[in-house]
Amino acid sequence: MTADVPKEIERVLISEEEIAAKVAELAKQVDADYAGKEILLVGVLKGAVMFMADFARALSTPVSMEFMAVSSYGSSTSSSGVVRILKDLDREIADKHVLVVEDIIDSGLTLSWLLRNMRSRGPASVEVVALLRKPEAAKVNVPVKYVGFDIATEFVVGYGLDYAERYRDLPFVGLLRPEVYSTSG
Ligand code: IMP
Ligand code: MG
Repeated sequence: MTADVPKEIERVLISEEEIAAKVAELAKQVDADYAGKEILLVGVLKGAVMFMADFARALSTPVSMEFMAVSSYGSSTSSSGVVRILKDLDREIADKHVLVVEDIIDSGLTLSWLLRNMRSRGPASVEVVALLRKPEAAKVNVPVKYVGFDIATEFVVGYGLDYAERYRDLPFVGLLRPEVYSTSG
């Protein structure tokens, strides 16, 4: 399948097919690790929606789904580590096997805060699955058990990831032309 590539995209970094193959691979790993258990997927809005939807369907393990929305203060292309909850979980997660589903880990600051927050609620376990990870993430010590792709420090969009709320609907992950974010402030 070839998707239309908007002109603001410099190039496709990870194709729809490559994403699908990786999602299946991650699901297989998670199924093996959680055999006989149930998983509570906690998706981080909005970036993780596409990944969450595909990943949940690729799993054989029974899951329930919760969503959380957080905002990290900072510019639109970098985060500060100061996190505010915009939408909290609807249910308690005590004694559940929580798997946090993230689109991308950049500085790791958002995730590191989120993990502390999850652990304080007394779950049976907490792990993380992230589709993408940038090299900076290695600096803060956040344990991410399942990672789809390690990518370079570049700003990417698509498959849930946005720039100024756009491009989330692209089926692939692509590099945004630098002109796009340098001119619109
Ligand atoms: P962190 O706290 O720096 O790890 O930021 C993580 C969040 O920043 C992600 O969940 C994304 O919402 C956003 N983000 C980081 N890098 C990118 C990118 O390249 N494109 C789009 N959003 C990004
Ligand atoms: Mg996000």
